Amino acid sequence: MKKIYVFDTTLRDGEQSPGVNLNTQEKVEIALQLEKLRVDRIEAGFPAASPGDLAAVRAVADAVKNASVIGLSRSREQDIDAAREALKDAQDPCLHLFLATSPIHRKYKLRMEKHEVLETAEAAIRYAKKYFSKVEFSPEDAARTELDFLCEVTEMAIRAGATVVNIPDTVGYMTPAQFGNIFKTLREKVPGIETIQLSAHCHDDLGMATANALAAIENGAEQIEGTINGIGERAGNTAIEEVALALETRQDYYQAKTSLVLNEIYRTSRLVSKLTGMVVPGNKAIVGANAFAHESGIHQDGMLKEKTTYEIISPETIGLKESKLVLGKHSGRHAFREKLIDLGYELNEEQLNTAFSKFKDLADKKKDVSDEDIRALIEEKLVTIPETYVLNTIQVSYGNQSVPTATVRIDTIEGEVLEEAALGNGSVDAIYKAIDKATGEEVELGDYAIKSVTQGKDALGEVYVVLQQDDISVQGRGVSTDILEASAKAYIDAINRLIDKRKTPGSGRRDKMSLI
Ligand code: KIV
Ligand code: ZN
Repeated sequence: MKKIYVFDTTLRDGEQSPGVNLNTQEKVEIALQLEKLRVDRIEAGFPAASPGDLAAVRAVADAVKNASVIGLSRSREQDIDAAREALKDAQDPCLHLFLATSPIHRKYKLRMEKHEVLETAEAAIRYAKKYFSKVEFSPEDAARTELDFLCEVTEMAIRAGATVVNIPDTVGYMTPAQFGNIFKTLREKVPGIETIQLSAHCHDDLGMATANALAAIENGAEQIEGTINGIGERAGNTAIEEVALALETRQDYYQAKTSLVLNEIYRTSRLVSKLTGMVVPGNKAIVGANAFAHESGIHQDGMLKEKTTYEIISPETIGLKESKLVLGKHSGRHAFREKLIDLGYELNEEQLNTAFSKFKDLADKKKDVSDEDIRALIEEKLVTIPETYVLNTIQVSYGNQSVPTATVRIDTIEGEVLEEAALGNGSVDAIYKAIDKATGEEVELGDYAIKSVTQGKDALGEVYVVLQQDDISVQGRGVSTDILEASAKAYIDAINRLIDKRKTPGSGRRDKMSLI
């Protein structure tokens, strides 16, 4: 069985998803979960993009012990120096250098001739090799680069000391047969190709990122790059969980395997969704809510007779356990603790106390508390940011013939109680105006999404908001059995994150377009 290395770029290309902005603590939290998932390599960010990015990469490099930590860098000495600074304490550092090679990028973006591209990349790789034993080089937009020139670039990168050459389909333009052919050609034509690893980096603009990554593997790629849930620039990147499960389920065909601990996939997907605010569509392969749901009578009948009639992957494989232990308001601490262990959460005594009291509050409102409810409760406070404001009470008056009014009471970290009322175009608008008045923050609501965590009328509702203030963008999340309360909590969570972000030097939203 051939080993396929997994290079996770959730924290870099994934974070380039519009509206996503992870703080350092959130990046570390995700990186530690990626370590549990046993990805081989973690691209933690782009240190030269901003001081905030540099600090985040450094924090990830300090925290991660069992995966290589990577920083992205343009082919410039200043970028490489920023990455050196960020990765200086990493256990197993690697630099990821890139420079565009396609005719479109050469002509319009770089304004460089082929020889200048070769010289610039070579000088950067040679400079990087003075400080890093592991250097990955990516000819950006490789997929639209003349194949002969791509062979020349790859040969140069090997000569200059690159240890991995990554082939990006930057704009998601390839078909699987074409992309596979690039790898076949590089393997056949480039001298020294056997001394380095070839890697595939796909984007999903035409919905072919997973198929293209698999075609690359079939034709000699030893590493795939991707993100959890397939998040990333535009339509996103290859979804790591899809490639891993395709290799696992079709071992007979691919004869290749990753080292991922597959039963950590679901938890990783949830964490990334929660911290990025990017909701996983119900029909998403592997991790969508419907991936293991069977609706039609014929399918249900088949499943009851023999699961393999309609299920090619068991939910347990990705860590989805259907629990026999249903918790309710009579359940005690012991059962609750057992349930958390079963779901894979390790909480300290203080966290357990908070979670247990939240569980009791919920059990008073809901007869049966499901695994999903518990996950939502625990994950709500998994990453702690200083809570400048905490929602105390909320009162909303709504009628279809009257103007909605909301009154909010908010506790401050200094022990004050702020109370304000406001009218709005709808109940949520009235709540948000009241919170704005109480906190004195001037923010713009960039996005608002609501989803139900479980089923039934008493389901927990989860609200995500994106707030914008000047050049800072933050997400917030709130969970409650009441969607208005969840909306208020999400908004206050985002305001707390905004205040936290303003305190971090260089935390302003970087110009994502300038990355590439
Ligand atoms: O898509 C792309 O080309 C990239 C490179 C920086 C590898 O993300
Ligand atoms: Zn990319």
